Amino acid sequence: MSLIPRKDLIQVFDTVVPSRYVSRFRKAFIIDPVMGYDVAMRGRLSHYGDAERREFQAILREIRSETELLIEDIEAYFIHMAVKRTAKVPGDIAEVGVYRGGSAKIICRAKGDRPLHLFDTFEGLPRVDEIDSVWPFYEGKFSASEDLVREYLRDFSQVSIYRGIFPATGMPVQDRQFSFVNLDVDTHRSTRDCLEFFYPRMSPGGIILSHDYVNTPGVRKAFDEFFLEKPEPVLETAASQCMVAKV
Ligand SMILES: C[S@@+](CC[C@H](N)C(=O)[O-])C[C@H]1O[C@@H](n2cnc3c(N)ncnc32)[C@H](O)[C@@H]1O
Repeated sequence: MSLIPRKDLIQVFDTVVPSRYVSRFRKAFIIDPVMGYDVAMRGRLSHYGDAERREFQAILREIRSETELLIEDIEAYFIHMAVKRTAKVPGDIAEVGVYRGGSAKIICRAKGDRPLHLFDTFEGLPRVDEIDSVWPFYEGKFSASEDLVREYLRDFSQVSIYRGIFPATGMPVQDRQFSFVNLDVDTHRSTRDCLEFFYPRMSPGGIILSHDYVNTPGVRKAFDEFFLEKPEPVLETAASQCMVAKV
């Protein structure tokens, strides 16, 4: 069942109102009162005096001031940590679901000289099925400028950007192995396609991390079904993500 059934109205609203105001509106009038204080506050990253977390908080402030990043602080830190901790695992890094490059920049700041492959349609979500409509998702939502992303990440080496619907755009990396893959594609079909492509190409110890596992039924279904007969457990994080480490 859809939380907000009038998809057309939402689409018009999203089109005319800048998305930072959409987020504030949803937080004030939907997330806080309907979903509760704990859920609304879950994104804060405590540093407990830890130097790496403090340093990351400064990086995150900088990225948030430069672009629109569609993840919470604690989720951003998970990406940062997964990139750092998989440095010892052989293989490249990939992200599907780049949007304006905010999460890609988190990866760039942590990756050193590992190759990073970024995939997005840059024309927004390619296909939205009934299972995905619990959130106001629609075809074309989250379209972004490829040129601006290229410009935004221009100072980082070994970054390749592929435009189009994944996995059709995966040909150039079909012979690569991966140490870390970040998925943020919102829908069941895209998530399933990404898992089918990347899972056999993950090095042992490599990590697949996905946004929206907890709150988006299509993403959850794709992971739960894909890993049902596989040895790896799907680990839900304290935010909306899930992660799998390849055995
Ligand atoms: C929520 S946005 C990503 C947000 C970004 N990771 C961030 O943190 O700011 C989702 C993106 O997934 C992309 N996407 C979804 N399915 C895709 C597919 N099959 N191939 C390529 N891009 C896809 C959309 O174009 C959209 O830009």
